Amino acid sequence: MSGIYIHVPYCKRKCSYCDFYSVANDSGKNEFANLIEKEIELRASYLNKSPVETIYFGGGTPSTLTTEAIGKILNAISKHFTVAKNSEVTLEANPDDLSIEYLLNLQKIGVNRLSIGVQSLCDSDLKQLGRRHNATEAINATNHAKKVGFSNISIDLIYGLPYSSNQIWEHNLAKAFALPITHLSCYHLIYESGTPLHKNVKSGLVKPVDENISVEQFKLLQQYAQQFNFEHYEVSNLSKKEYRSRHNTSYWKQIHYLGLGPSAHSYNGVSRCWNARSIEQWGNSIKKGLPNPESETLTKDEKINEYFLTSLRTIWGADLSYINNNFGKASAELAQKMTVKYAVRGKMAIDGNIIRIKPEHFLTSDGIIIDFLV
Ligand SMILES: C[S@@+](CC[C@H](N)C(=O)[O-])C[C@H]1O[C@@H](n2cnc3c(N)ncnc32)[C@H](O)[C@@H]1O
Ligand code: SF4
Repeated sequence: MSGIYIHVPYCKRKCSYCDFYSVANDSGKNEFANLIEKEIELRASYLNKSPVETIYFGGGTPSTLTTEAIGKILNAISKHFTVAKNSEVTLEANPDDLSIEYLLNLQKIGVNRLSIGVQSLCDSDLKQLGRRHNATEAINATNHAKKVGFSNISIDLIYGLPYSSNQIWEHNLAKAFALPITHLSCYHLIYESGTPLHKNVKSGLVKPVDENISVEQFKLLQQYAQQFNFEHYEVSNLSKKEYRSRHNTSYWKQIHYLGLGPSAHSYNGVSRCWNARSIEQWGNSIKKGLPNPESETLTKDEKINEYFLTSLRTIWGADLSYINNNFGKASAELAQKMTVKYAVRGKMAIDGNIIRIKPEHFLTSDGIIIDFLV
């Protein structure tokens, strides 16, 4: 099995915190679907005929594309790859793009999962983040999606926001869990280097929240998740039973994927490659028939690190017998030793061959995982 990711590098405007590759203009947008179609043709053999189980339009803002353009890309994928019958087809969308007509058209062309960038359900947060939508629009978009027939809806929220409070966060959670969602991605705000928000922190204009507040907000998230039967299955992802993101899960399970569009990454088990982080550069190479992504062959150490960095973020954890078989006895023994160190502090668990970070310690997982890296 395998997956396909399409990076849509367009946003109506840039949010102050965001570091994903996108431009706030329509440069090259008219020919974007044609270029992706061509890239699909050029890279049709990358997945080695493995059936495509998941397709994910991420961004940027995929919902700024017309449904004709999205449909064209999906048709090209079906023409050149074997797409599984029950494939998961996700589109990231901004709430203010989701009119009922747009939602209905998405359904017609085969999109069966939405990931809606709600971020907060409090207008003062949304204003501070520079979002285009307000809380009512986000609630309406999610309800409309359900009403037109989407049964698999995820929303994104951000916590740990400066100027926010635990009360506002709890209000967000209560409103979010009342929505017809099956999945929730909850990210702690990251001050990405180079973003306007990062500059404001450096100049003292914005003060990051105290670590204790982040911990309290994380605990509130877990309380609500438990109350509403959502499983915290990955550091930033929670879902109802059977509704984990199949696409993102495949990244965490080392399943192969092809990435299309500027800045997209691909992985085929041996090497990782990535497209130019520029619409123009990427487009020119596709026009010349040379997708030409930069690539690196992963060394054994990089593969081990990759394995820990992905698997230990999840509740299914890492498998000592897999480590033993793929990276050698010494690596498995080291991992076991390190796990014991964290298990005695109550942060990790060992169940047979499976080692994992306990979900209540997901917030500090980066600090734990670093000790497993070679
Ligand atoms: C690639 S963005 C695309 C989603 C869509 N364009 C939107 O903004 O609604 C995916 C998600 O990443 C999260 N995100 C982006 N930058 C972040 C940051 N600096 N810290 C935490 N979360 C962030 C947001 O929750 C966002 O919805
Ligand atoms: S958060 Fe979404 S809308 Fe905002 S700049 Fe990033 S990708 Fe674009």
